[in-house]
Amino acid sequence: MRNTGVFVLLVTGCLLDAASAGASAGTQSPGAAQPIEQRGEYLATAGDCISCHTGPGGKPFAGGGRLNTPFGYLLAPNITPDPETGIGGWTADDFYRAMHEGVNRRGQDMFPCMPFVFYTRVTRDDSDAIYAYLRALQPVRNAVDVNHLRFPFDQRWSMAGWRELFFTEGTFKSDPTASDSWNRGAYLVEGLGHCSACHSPRDVAGGIETRHEYTGAEIDGWFAPNISSNLHVGLGSWTADEIATYLKTGVRKGKTTTFGPMAEVVHNSTSKLTDADLAAMAQYLKTLPPESPLRTARAVPSESQQRGATLYLDHCAACHQAKGRGMPGIFPPLAGNGAVIAGDPGNVLQAMLNGIPMQNGYIPMPSFASQLRDQQNAAIANYVRTSWGNTAVANASAPEVARLRAARAQ
Ligand code: HEC
Ligand code: HEC
Ligand code: HEC
Repeated sequence: MRNTGVFVLLVTGCLLDAASAGASAGTQSPGAAQPIEQRGEYLATAGDCISCHTGPGGKPFAGGGRLNTPFGYLLAPNITPDPETGIGGWTADDFYRAMHEGVNRRGQDMFPCMPFVFYTRVTRDDSDAIYAYLRALQPVRNAVDVNHLRFPFDQRWSMAGWRELFFTEGTFKSDPTASDSWNRGAYLVEGLGHCSACHSPRDVAGGIETRHEYTGAEIDGWFAPNISSNLHVGLGSWTADEIATYLKTGVRKGKTTTFGPMAEVVHNSTSKLTDADLAAMAQYLKTLPPESPLRTARAVPSESQQRGATLYLDHCAACHQAKGRGMPGIFPPLAGNGAVIAGDPGNVLQAMLNGIPMQNGYIPMPSFASQLRDQQNAAIANYVRTSWGNTAVANASAPEVARLRAARAQ
């Protein structure tokens, strides 16, 4: 059984439902072969837009790819130029705003299952080319109801805190001291390729310092391996050629072949890129530091602290936020909260076991009595009591939770 906090999950990427896989760009004709549209088609391929924006058995880009999260799912919208159900009414500015800022035409924050955190690095020129390509497609009428997340995750305002923590807007800046091909590789890997969406680990605190890490992550039951230059667990022992060949064919001879989510990335995206671009990406990947300084500099949390953090991110962070700050007027902060840092952990445990009815202008907090075992309740209580500057004693225990449960049943 897997259960990952929505924030973390959204950072590491939303995994496409297996039933949605198998879209093929091969059926798309580039239309009237305008150079800008052709360039746009190539860039859309590098961005693997088709994998998500195509439903099972549906027309390419007409929407419906299902993205699972533990809090419900999203269906990717129709991005063919149909005026009512697609992006027919969008201007190139609207489109760039979606790519660069993650804001849709209605001015709403988009859920980061759409990888705008990475696409923000795409240049205006390239965005315009992708726009031109999509606009030249046959319009398909297909209304998609995007949002199937459960409350409160379905609320777009719930993204406000997330964006503040995890999203930095900004076009890719090339490094003048590096070669053109290294810069091209960096642009593709960090931007359209959104490789980090799956290959970067989640930070226990939920921060996006992980953005450049590439040291491997579990994603919806799959493990996306370390693709940094680490010699033992990363790509350190692969030659640049081997990496490029893997991205082209899905095979590293005698060693490995794609079998999971990467198979689709290769099929729909990297196998269609030019050898020069694949070589550039491989060159860039070979220079990713084996371990980010951010990871080694931070104190390694104890195992129980990590367990508590994971449970907190899974069950609490969507409302109380990754760093316990809450959201003004909506969810109370747990950092510096008297009920949390009291000498006795009872208050936190009661809040989790019983939930809290609507009061003080807050919405109700759900009960976790049936979702969490005693040990898990205690681990979360200890975590919130000792994190983000809270300095209470980690004295919650499973027997105490059991006692509170028994009292509650009477
Ligand atoms: C990992 C899956 C995924 C990939 C890859 C992806 N998208 Fe999306 N996209 C989504 C989801 C989900 C939404 C809906 C987000 C929302 O409404 O909050 C979306 C929304 C959009 C929208 C807004 C449409 C609307 O009607 O609101 C545009 C435009 C878009 N994507 C373009 C692209 C382009 C161009 C690419 C490739 C460069 C791409 N997407 C790649 C999942 C994806
Ligand atoms: C949708 C999630 C996802 C995305 C996006 C993704 N990968 Fe992967 N990747 C995986 C998974 C999962 C594996 C494990 C094998 C598999 O799925 O076939 C993998 C395997 C790999 C491997 C083989 C590593 C090994 O040790 O065997 C390489 C290299 C790789 N990916 C590079 C990339 C690059 C470069 C990009 C960006 C262009 C990328 N991946 C984008 C999920 C992803
Ligand atoms: C669906 C959103 C939501 C989730 C998930 C959630 N909470 Fe809450 N929590 C609230 C709201 C809203 C309140 C304020 C309720 C009220 O006062 O009416 C609250 C109040 C609290 C309080 C009391 C704070 C005070 O100032 O009195 C504690 C302690 C708490 N939550 C801990 C947790 C823990 C630990 C978890 C995870 C197991 C969690 N919450 C999960 C929404 C949530």
